[in-house]
Amino acid sequence: MDIRIDRNSNPPTVPDWDSLVFGKHYAPHMFMLNWRDGEWHDPRVVPYGPFEMSPAAKVLHYAQEIFEGMKAYKKADGSVHMFRPDQNVARFNRSAERMCMPTVPPGLFMEALEILCAMDSDFVPPKPGSLYIRPTMIGDEPSLGVASSSTFLFYIITGPVGTYFKGGVKPLYLKAETEYVRSAPGGVGFAKTGGNYAAALLPIKRAQQEGFDQIIWLDAMTRSTVEEMGAMNICFVYEDRVVTAPTMPDSDTILAGVTRDSVGTLVQEMDLAWVQEPPVLAQVLADAESGALKEAFACGTAAIVTPIGKIHAGGKDFTIGDGGEGAFTLKLRETVGAIHAGESAVHPEWLHHVSRGTTA
Ligand SMILES: Cc1ncc(COP(=O)(O)O)c(C=O)c1O
Repeated sequence: MDIRIDRNSNPPTVPDWDSLVFGKHYAPHMFMLNWRDGEWHDPRVVPYGPFEMSPAAKVLHYAQEIFEGMKAYKKADGSVHMFRPDQNVARFNRSAERMCMPTVPPGLFMEALEILCAMDSDFVPPKPGSLYIRPTMIGDEPSLGVASSSTFLFYIITGPVGTYFKGGVKPLYLKAETEYVRSAPGGVGFAKTGGNYAAALLPIKRAQQEGFDQIIWLDAMTRSTVEEMGAMNICFVYEDRVVTAPTMPDSDTILAGVTRDSVGTLVQEMDLAWVQEPPVLAQVLADAESGALKEAFACGTAAIVTPIGKIHAGGKDFTIGDGGEGAFTLKLRETVGAIHAGESAVHPEWLHHVSRGTTA
């Protein structure tokens, strides 16, 4: 399918890199693609801007929506690359299947990503910033019947973001959440669908009002094993291993993070075992007290690798290590950060270079 290009004749000015607010700045172009009559139609790059939708569109009532979050980076020589975009494309299509939506042909998806990154390369900030990329699909059929939409809009918007660690890295203080759950077996926890995030807003707001930085989600059935942290995966570091909750096909409640997968590879290359078994909260806390648990961190595209200092559970605080950032967590964050920035020789296959000729 040929992608039609309609250039933005009135592009916004490039923002000041030092004053970027996450999710508030957009690049001049977006990609759009429509599904109707059982087929994708009219792939196009158009000026970024609002589009019309019926107030009866299915997505607005029954939340038939999925998205992705990924990044492109610019090196000092001006070249642009994405980090493991194939993983996001594959996860998007897994989410699509679960939410009863059509999948997007990976080749077309990748081409659209490449064109946007190349056309809007001026909006990719240098290190430590990046271009955040948000592919999205919504069911836009105007109909209030509770059934899958018969039409869909797939679109990709992008925008520059700064570093997550503006005021420096601060170890997190987490609440083990026993009242609310994020996902349940048989549900949609492994899918990146908006409802998962809407349902998490209240518990996270309450925890933050109580003075915590974020929530540790526990499993829905027993509230005894650790699943995720906010919208990040969570890992526990021991002398000889790093432990994290399993993802599909072993568990359908965890979002399979691209950062988590990359960290798992790096951990094994550092000669530690990568153990994908549900971490039992009581054991984690006992290990924090005994000192067997050395470090804990959360990982995801936004904050890369973030140290966890303290966990609050059963009315008590449990400090991990000395409550600061551990050496292993720091090393992982620096390693992943260097790979993202294109400054590392390890895993060159994780970088997808955007060819400069794409917009010709
Ligand atoms: C619920 C949830 N878990 C984990 C992650 C981390 O995934 P990734 O490393 O692909 O950003 C995310 C972010 O996308 C998320 O929303």
